[in-house]
Amino acid sequence: MSEQTLSNLMHEDRRFEPPADLAADANVKEEAYARADSDREAFWAEAAERLDWGKKWDQVLDWSNPPFAKWFVGGTLNASVNCVDRHVEAGNGDKVAIHWVGEPDDDTRDITYAQLKDEVSRAANALTELGVQKGDRVAIYMPMIPEVVVAMLACARLGAPHTVVFGGFSADALASRITDCEAHVVITSDGGYRRGAASALKPAVDEAVAKTGDLVRHVLVVRRTGQDVDWHGREEGGRDVWWHDAVDGASAEHEPEMHDSEHPLYVMYTSGTTGKPKGILHTTGGYLTGTSYTHWAVFDLKDDDVYWCTADVGWVTGHSYMAYGPLANGATQVMYEGTPEKGRWWQIVQDYKVTILYTAPTAIRTFMKQGREIPDGYDMSSLRLLGSVGEPINPEAYVWYREVIGGDRCPVVDTWWQTETGQIMISPLPGVTAGKPGSAMKALPGISADVVDDDAKSVGNGNGGYLVLKEPWPAMLRTLWGDDQRFKDTYWSRWPGLYFAGDGAKLDEDGDIWLLGRVDDVMNVSGHRLSTTEIESALVSHPKVAEAAVVGAADETTGQAVCAFVILRDSAGDGGEDIVEELRKHVAKEIGAIAKPRQIMVVPELPKTRSGKIMRRLLKDVAEHREVGDVTTLADSTVMDLIKTREGSSSSED
Ligand code: WTA
Repeated sequence: MSEQTLSNLMHEDRRFEPPADLAADANVKEEAYARADSDREAFWAEAAERLDWGKKWDQVLDWSNPPFAKWFVGGTLNASVNCVDRHVEAGNGDKVAIHWVGEPDDDTRDITYAQLKDEVSRAANALTELGVQKGDRVAIYMPMIPEVVVAMLACARLGAPHTVVFGGFSADALASRITDCEAHVVITSDGGYRRGAASALKPAVDEAVAKTGDLVRHVLVVRRTGQDVDWHGREEGGRDVWWHDAVDGASAEHEPEMHDSEHPLYVMYTSGTTGKPKGILHTTGGYLTGTSYTHWAVFDLKDDDVYWCTADVGWVTGHSYMAYGPLANGATQVMYEGTPEKGRWWQIVQDYKVTILYTAPTAIRTFMKQGREIPDGYDMSSLRLLGSVGEPINPEAYVWYREVIGGDRCPVVDTWWQTETGQIMISPLPGVTAGKPGSAMKALPGISADVVDDDAKSVGNGNGGYLVLKEPWPAMLRTLWGDDQRFKDTYWSRWPGLYFAGDGAKLDEDGDIWLLGRVDDVMNVSGHRLSTTEIESALVSHPKVAEAAVVGAADETTGQAVCAFVILRDSAGDGGEDIVEELRKHVAKEIGAIAKPRQIMVVPELPKTRSGKIMRRLLKDVAEHREVGDVTTLADSTVMDLIKTREGSSSSED
């Protein structure tokens, strides 16, 4: 992180004290930090008591074989029972679980906890009918419709780990995930609505399934848009089954089994520093404890709140803070199918009297650009708390969020966490912590974070370094699917006993934490994690490309943007007029539209050290239109001049 960006992060020095009424009535008070410090395991055991268990655990934490943790050892529970049945049994069956808002105007559904319980039970019975058994993996590739939550909970009920693949990923990406976790069943829909039009999903599933041989036995399809689909029904020996045929007629009675606390709940693939996505494995008891506790603590959740997390269910935020955390807490929430269009969000806040909004800085910056007149046109006085996640929030965006969306009365909680951590780790507590724009403040009670130098020594206040986590926490990933060694190597090998998150951070004079972005080859584009290596692999898989280097360049709206430098094969000549567009499309096909480079430069050489390592730092200088830094370690120091002369000549931006 350059000094310039750092000072940019630090220039706002206002402090925002917690509102007095919120502080007085807060779910979690200051004493929680000391209590958790004095007995961490007792603290998390108390959080676990908030759930319903079939059998209570014998041991809170087994850390005898690090880094493989076991939480609530010997306990049994069912995640779907905790998210639905128990609320119905407690007399809250008529409470709305999900206010679902479709993208087309007036396309809405309110689903109560009782209805959700019936639907999850029917889906569980239907999946059983399709042969899904405990331990089997089920892939889910769906838009933001209620059935996606039903599908996840039905899998959880059966103990069949789901792997939800973001609907914006390509058929290839879906196929590689299906293959990696050997899923025999895929749940999808004919399509979904995006920006006013129906877009198809089923064709990508067909393509993915065709690439995976005989692996997939059934494809369960929700009819959402009614568009024509290629259909290969079971009558003709095909795999396709309509959701309404399989689920609607199934029994709403389903006797749930209690699963072991460490039974796998789901696998979520995320980008790492190498080309192959990593299957992050989360298990049941600890994950549900961590997500439900933090959802209750960080958002100060009350019974009458209307909570709205805008994340897509295809990312971890949609898992922890749309599906599992809020539902385990019996919350009422909004789920919206569409994208952040002008005014539509604020209409939803007004209509449903949303009290807690959780979103990403990239959305806030987009709204800032559109101007405050738009949100100013709506009544958003219901809001009382705002959350941010996914990337560092710059102070300007924080202050705008607070003032314009939050009417200068709502605290902003900037929450740092990862797919791997499963739960929020660093965040203000809204009734305790005075907010500093741009800082995620401190580790939550029960969490132990530090900022260290290359030798794993704490850097101390006023200094920067690497963010590490020092003690196990309930929702931590247990391993990478099928790859224990890679799990150890990736997160635990840099410094023995410490979990290295991959983020740089700084402690200010008060010891509060400021996240400074990734220090590895992971980019963060609109709060979505992308790997430079993965995009490079996609580029070199194109027949015209010999070599590629990808960097994340600072971008005003999306945080970072993908910039690629490619060397063409001799046989490709100059690549042809449309080479840049051709390559961008190729990346979209290989990975998904979100990975499309904003800019591609065709260059004659790439800057390499004498040992052949690409110096991305220098390419970043070019991509960010900066003076190119120190080139003395380059094998050929004239390379950068060659690249500079190409700048602008073959780039594409849209
Ligand atoms: C980044 C998303 C700064 C960070 C929940 C992390 C953040 C990566 C914040 C994980 C934040 C997430 N401030 N950076 N509040 N939240 N990040 O796995 O670099 O998609 O390592 O999880 O996002 O991204 P992931």
